[in-house]
Amino acid sequence: MPPPKTSGALSVEAAIAGRRSVRSFTAQPLALEELSQLLWSIQGITGNRSFRTTPSAGAVFPLKIVAAVGGMGSTVLPPGLYSYLPQEHALLPRRIGDCRPALTGAALGQESINTAPLSLIIAADYEITRTRYRNRTERYIHMEAGHAAQNLYLQAAALRLATVAIGAFDDTSVREVAALPANFHPLYIMPVGHPPNIP
Ligand SMILES: Cc1cc2nc3c(=O)[nH]c(=O)nc-3n(C[C@H](O)[C@H](O)[C@H](O)COP(=O)(O)O)c2cc1C
Repeated sequence: MPPPKTSGALSVEAAIAGRRSVRSFTAQPLALEELSQLLWSIQGITGNRSFRTTPSAGAVFPLKIVAAVGGMGSTVLPPGLYSYLPQEHALLPRRIGDCRPALTGAALGQESINTAPLSLIIAADYEITRTRYRNRTERYIHMEAGHAAQNLYLQAAALRLATVAIGAFDDTSVREVAALPANFHPLYIMPVGHPPNIP
């Protein structure tokens, strides 16, 4: 993907003030530059020691991001599931086809997923963190997912896009639809797109 930008038109204060959960989107696809920026905001590499845009307890980075691109969801990518590879800042194709209806079904029929050009699934491998942090694992992983989700909210706002953090879904169904390996547990589904009220 194109390299992410580290400056933009909106201040962080304006993004914080303007952030809102949005649940319907226009049909406008996302440009590759937008996709690049959104993924980078969640788990992109920053600095020169493999640190990332969001903090991680012990810098073990247990989160995995899967991009579910809808039909006509991207200006260049075919619909399907892609894994985000932070080190390469690249998307690895995993499964071809528009999985939005199945993902919507797995999320108790939440139509925000069906209308969004893209959904980003934040999943975690708890064992990566458990090795070091034992009984604080759940606490730390859930904090990390919150950091990642908030970055996405703010990056979306800064790009005049919008998102919503979805936590209500059937874990097993989402794992199947998103083709997650057995060790990864889905924590958030975040549909992203152009909000209807901003030109
Ligand atoms: C842990 C968590 C789970 C959530 N799950 C859902 C969800 O399943 N569906 C949804 O539409 N919004 C969900 N939300 C978004 C909240 O409804 C939203 O943040 C709240 O209404 C406040 O609105 P705001 O984000 O615009 O400030 C969730 C938010 C959090 C923090």
